[in-house]
Amino acid sequence: MSAGQQLDKSALPQHLGIIMDGNGRWAKKRGLPRSAGHTAGANNFRTITRYCSRIGIPYLTVYAFSTENWRRPAEEVGALMRLFKQYLEEALRDFMDENIRVIFIGDTSAFSPELRELIARVERESSGKTGMVLNIAMNYGGRAELVHAMRLLAEDVQAGRLSPEAIDEDAISARLYTAGQPDPDLVIRPSGEHRTSNFLLWQSAYAEYVVMDILWPDFKTSDLDRALLEYASRNRRFGGV
Ligand code: IPE
Ligand code: IPE
Ligand code: MG
Repeated sequence: MSAGQQLDKSALPQHLGIIMDGNGRWAKKRGLPRSAGHTAGANNFRTITRYCSRIGIPYLTVYAFSTENWRRPAEEVGALMRLFKQYLEEALRDFMDENIRVIFIGDTSAFSPELRELIARVERESSGKTGMVLNIAMNYGGRAELVHAMRLLAEDVQAGRLSPEAIDEDAISARLYTAGQPDPDLVIRPSGEHRTSNFLLWQSAYAEYVVMDILWPDFKTSDLDRALLEYASRNRRFGGV
């Protein structure tokens, strides 16, 4: 039995974040174009998502494309956009029998009308699902998310719906893309980089981080199990003793 199935439900994170990093290096190691790494990464995303749903993780957020990833060569961004489109078309065909609700977090208005339509359809067609909530972070940045939330707050104040004194942590959380969801308990970063890269900045104030020296396309369910066991052994204090 795998650790995911072995672990008591209460020892599992309520909300797991994964920074799906290392596709480019995976491809380079094999003498392949970076886009081949992204294809392998997308395939792995399907495997890991299904596994998370099966072992009973209630919320999963995956980082698929950051607000900074537009800085990459046009060819790579183009390949990623084609892959997103292909993935969403497949998801509409095959993924909808899974009991997973899909929500896109980030500024999706920057994507092509075709991709936006697919995003809207996946969200709509999965909206009645009662199992795991899957947040796909696309054109997501923690800072951009906070800017967006501040604008919403300013609008409410300007319109007289909210007084400045009423702005508290809950008022900010309620205006994030993850409104109503628990904060992530665990963030896993494969690829060995020790940084957040702008992922869930506000929400992960007290998240446990597990950095693993393994590239995302190579990341297996057994690696997830290792991270879950590591998480279960951590002593979370939240500033207390
Ligand atoms: C993550 O893999 C995928 C995206 C950021 C879209 P990378 O493409 O960042 O892979 P490395 O970090 O260059 O190996
Ligand atoms: C973070 O990875 C974003 C995603 C995995 C989507 P990056 O590869 O963009 O992060 P940096 O540039 O190494 O910080
Ligand atoms: Mg990277």
